Amino acid sequence: MTLKRSLLSLLPILGSALAQVAAPYTDPGNGFVFDGVTDAVYGVQYGIVLPQADTSTEFIGEIVAPIAAKWIGLAFGGAMIGDLLLVAWPNGNEIVASTRYATAYAQPTAYDGPILTTLPSSSVNSTHWKYVYRCQNCTSWEGGGGISPTGTGVFAWAYSSVGVDDPSDINSTFQEHTDFGFYGINFPDAQNSNYQNYLQGNPGTPPTTTTTTATSTSTSTAPTVSATPYDYIIVGAGPGGIIAADRLSEAGKKVLLLERGGPSTAETGGTYDAPWAQTANLTKFDVPGLFETMFTDSNAFWWCKDINVFAGCLLGGGTSINGALYWYPADSDFRTPNGWPSSWANHTPYTSKLMQRLPSTDHPSTDGKRYLEESATLVALLLNGQGYSNITINDNPNYKDHVYGFSAFDFINGERGGPVATYFQTAIARPNFTYKQYVLVSQVIRNGSTITGVRTNDTSLGPNGIIPLNPNGRVVLSAGSFGTPRILFQSGIGPTDMLQTVQSNPTASANLPAQSQWINLPVGQGVSDNPSINLVFTHPSIDAYDNWADVWSDPRPADAQQYLQSRSGVFAGASPKLNFWRAYGASDGVTRYAQGTVRPGAASVNSSLPYNASNIFTITVYLSQGITSRGRIGIDAALNAKAISNPWLTDPTDKTVLLQALHDVVSNINSISNLTMITPDATMTIEEYVDAYDPGTMCSNHWVGSAKIGTSSSNAVIDENAKVFNTDNLFIVDASIIPSLPMGNPHGMLMSAAEQAVTKILALSGGA
Ligand SMILES: Cc1cc2nc3c(=O)[nH]c(=O)nc-3n(C[C@H](O)[C@H](O)[C@H](O)COP(=O)(O)OP(=O)(O)OC[C@H]3O[C@@H](n4cnc5c(N)ncnc54)[C@H](O)[C@@H]3O)c2cc1C
Ligand SMILES: *[C@@H]1O[C@H](CO)[C@@H](O)[C@H](O)[C@H]1NC(C)=O
Ligand SMILES: *[C@@H]1O[C@H](CO)[C@@H](O)[C@H](O)[C@H]1NC(C)=O
Ligand SMILES: *[C@@H]1O[C@H](CO)[C@@H](O)[C@H](O)[C@H]1NC(C)=O
Ligand SMILES: *[C@@H]1O[C@H](CO)[C@@H](O)[C@H](O)[C@H]1NC(C)=O
Ligand SMILES: *[C@@H]1O[C@H](CO)[C@@H](O)[C@H](O)[C@H]1NC(C)=O
Ligand SMILES: *[C@@H]1O[C@H](CO)[C@@H](O)[C@H](O)[C@H]1NC(C)=O
Ligand SMILES: *[C@@H]1O[C@H](CO)[C@@H](O)[C@H](O)[C@H]1NC(C)=O
Ligand SMILES: *[C@@H]1O[C@H](CO)[C@@H](O)[C@H](O)[C@H]1NC(C)=O
Ligand SMILES: *[C@@H]1O[C@H](CO)[C@@H](O)[C@H](O)[C@H]1NC(C)=O
Ligand SMILES: *[C@@H]1O[C@H](CO)[C@@H](O)[C@H](O)[C@H]1NC(C)=O
Ligand SMILES: *[C@@H]1O[C@H](CO)[C@@H](O)[C@H](O)[C@H]1NC(C)=O
Repeated sequence: MTLKRSLLSLLPILGSALAQVAAPYTDPGNGFVFDGVTDAVYGVQYGIVLPQADTSTEFIGEIVAPIAAKWIGLAFGGAMIGDLLLVAWPNGNEIVASTRYATAYAQPTAYDGPILTTLPSSSVNSTHWKYVYRCQNCTSWEGGGGISPTGTGVFAWAYSSVGVDDPSDINSTFQEHTDFGFYGINFPDAQNSNYQNYLQGNPGTPPTTTTTTATSTSTSTAPTVSATPYDYIIVGAGPGGIIAADRLSEAGKKVLLLERGGPSTAETGGTYDAPWAQTANLTKFDVPGLFETMFTDSNAFWWCKDINVFAGCLLGGGTSINGALYWYPADSDFRTPNGWPSSWANHTPYTSKLMQRLPSTDHPSTDGKRYLEESATLVALLLNGQGYSNITINDNPNYKDHVYGFSAFDFINGERGGPVATYFQTAIARPNFTYKQYVLVSQVIRNGSTITGVRTNDTSLGPNGIIPLNPNGRVVLSAGSFGTPRILFQSGIGPTDMLQTVQSNPTASANLPAQSQWINLPVGQGVSDNPSINLVFTHPSIDAYDNWADVWSDPRPADAQQYLQSRSGVFAGASPKLNFWRAYGASDGVTRYAQGTVRPGAASVNSSLPYNASNIFTITVYLSQGITSRGRIGIDAALNAKAISNPWLTDPTDKTVLLQALHDVVSNINSISNLTMITPDATMTIEEYVDAYDPGTMCSNHWVGSAKIGTSSSNAVIDENAKVFNTDNLFIVDASIIPSLPMGNPHGMLMSAAEQAVTKILALSGGA
């Protein structure tokens, strides 16, 4: 699923564990003691100090930024939308700053109420600008957010290397930030008895309880904890890790599955229930019809905060928060032209195993009926005019040219199913399977090519948090396309520039293997994700379902009732209703496939045409198999994982094909009366629309290839047995191994790949 949204736009977070947490420091310039962080990438320092009175509504803050920072933003509740924002920049020798507010992912506008005062220790010199400010009436704001001086919070910062449009105008507009990040803060740590002195420019008597050292010990002496060794330690409970864990424990191995997040569905202990579904104990992750609210929730605890695109950090990984579009793989998904070793071509036995455990359905409602199908009916009509056939997609996985069919899912009995409801349940019932949640793995411990264990952040699991392997034991990384590379880098495995980034990180470098032990592999290189473009339409037959806005707090009563009674109706399905595929030849001789996903509602509309918001729907057009564009996944100095070069439409041939597909979809739009495309509207061509598309919003969250399988360590990370090259016992089973995008949304094909990988791992001699 693709959405025109970015993580910062939606991420209001409550005191969850974050990579960076504020620590006390003394500003050498003014002598004030702040609680804050210095971001490791840009070197910008952010500090805050509060008066000791818990009833106060003000604080003093500072931003110390290198002059390369053209403007800096802060969000005092950790999100861009519905939050008190501050934006500041230098103008000559002055600092210009204002409070702002945003109700949508667009230019934040001036916000009245807070009073900002520039304090005298603010300055601009040849290398830095420093803004020290008093912010009064700043601890609560519109929409119910605020800072509790006795509690914890999350701040988000935004950085830009591009100047604002008019630096002399306090209300100046500016372009979207170039980067952003988060840090956690415990507000009582920021309280200071010298606050009133600071307002006078006087540091007062330094409190004895604070120190200026923010860096803590990296190698503490080991407490005496005995650790249990395992045959297999699997890192990450997404679809890859869960399937590996189930099959390995089924084979009698002693298996440990580690997951950094917590429970998801009710069956796993999740309690995040929709208000109307509390009596049935149904969480957001259980009810298919709540999918769209993953992106509009003010308590989005499930996203990984140290990955700058959407990634699920909870039991089930992406499969607990995704749209659950589920496609059995096409044969070509595993063929050598798409990067697979030839030994993988016969996927049928593995796909069959998957289909047995987790059959697909294109009518998830328990009464067998389909609901909210107006957009499917309408687009089927449109595609009929383009020579398409109507099929049941998963009955014909290889048939992906000029076909459409109802969207298929891995929902079960009207609830989210996926690997958590199936494979995980059989694993957890076995005595030789252990599951531990809220455990973060930073690296594998190795002696040269031999892995001896994993390092976690939980010192109750072993000395210094290290969990060992049994003799001949193995580690399987399943931390996802961003999480797995980060663990590899911290283990000294990957391209030199990434390992050097780890080396420059004060905390991580302490545990990085010596340079002589580094294993150079193309981790993170040559990744892909589907570029996707949303077209928004209106037609009087469509029920846009209020754009899914009320499904969490104020659902249509009859629909909620029907779902609670029998797991049937609108809530038994997610937003997608119809999918279609078409093959395209291209000038480079490569066949590319375009996929379409149709759903009522729209993530954003930009139109000069009049339209009725109750009648809108979206066709997302993605480019899938055959795509030649590639990007790179890496880490920054703070060890946040991100695309360090974007993978979308870097090859102009991909763009040509995608444009052709977009034109084709609307080629006969006039044959359907009253069907109008409203985004792009009549003022813009499709070419102009695609050219103006923010690259980040082309993201489909279908990242593959960051630890790809292959036959040579020069262009792959794992061999045909899923073993990391130049190691003895390190394996990878997750989306990162997939060398190129499959036909459809990837998790179905990934689960078949996981079945195959774990079979090959078990068959490989030398294991415990
Ligand atoms: C918003 C969204 C919508 C999507 N919609 C669809 C869809 O409709 N259909 C489809 O097929 N695909 C969809 N996808 C993609 C699909 O969900 C992913 O391809 C799939 O989940 C990848 O599985 P994985 O096992 O590689 O990793 P993940 O699912 O990312 O799981 C990795 C797990 O490892 C854990 N982890 C990571 N690092 C560590 C660590 N250091 N220590 C311990 N644990 C760790 C994470 O918490 C997570 O649980 C969507 C993805 C997103 C984000
Ligand atoms: C404080 O700010 C809010 C907006 O956040 C505003 O509505 C309110 O009037 C302000 N209060 C005072 C006393 O200025
Ligand atoms: C410029 O200002 C910064 C921040 O206050 C300070 O650390 C730095 O020493 C100053 N540099 C010069 C050359 O004065
Ligand atoms: C900035 O915008 C606010 C709100 O629109 C307005 O009250 C204020 O006068 C503006 N300031 C300047 C200097 O234009
Ligand atoms: C693991 O569990 C399986 C299935 O319950 C069982 O057959 C096997 O003997 C167990 N192995 C160990 C080492 O406990
Ligand atoms: C919901 O959960 C509570 C607390 O765990 C339990 O007591 C109750 O029986 C559950 N209700 C249903 C309908 O499962
Ligand atoms: C496809 O054909 C079937 C069988 O005739 C029909 O029930 C279904 O509605 C059609 N699909 C669409 C999306 O129109
Ligand atoms: C380890 O990290 C996880 C994920 O960030 C967190 O939930 C957990 O509390 C941490 N554990 C410890 C002991 O700090
Ligand atoms: C590391 O492996 C070598 C052999 O490859 C062995 O001699 C050495 O003892 C091992 N070191 C540790 C600490 O296990
Ligand atoms: C909306 O569309 C217009 C052209 O019709 C374009 O100039 C503008 O940039 C678009 N706005 C956004 C936010 O995409
Ligand atoms: C918009 O569409 C809805 C649902 O079809 C209809 O009830 C409403 O009257 C329409 N509004 C206008 C202004 O046409
Ligand atoms: C198209 O709209 C017109 C009025 O706007 C209406 O009379 C006509 O019935 C509509 N046609 C269809 C097929 O909905």
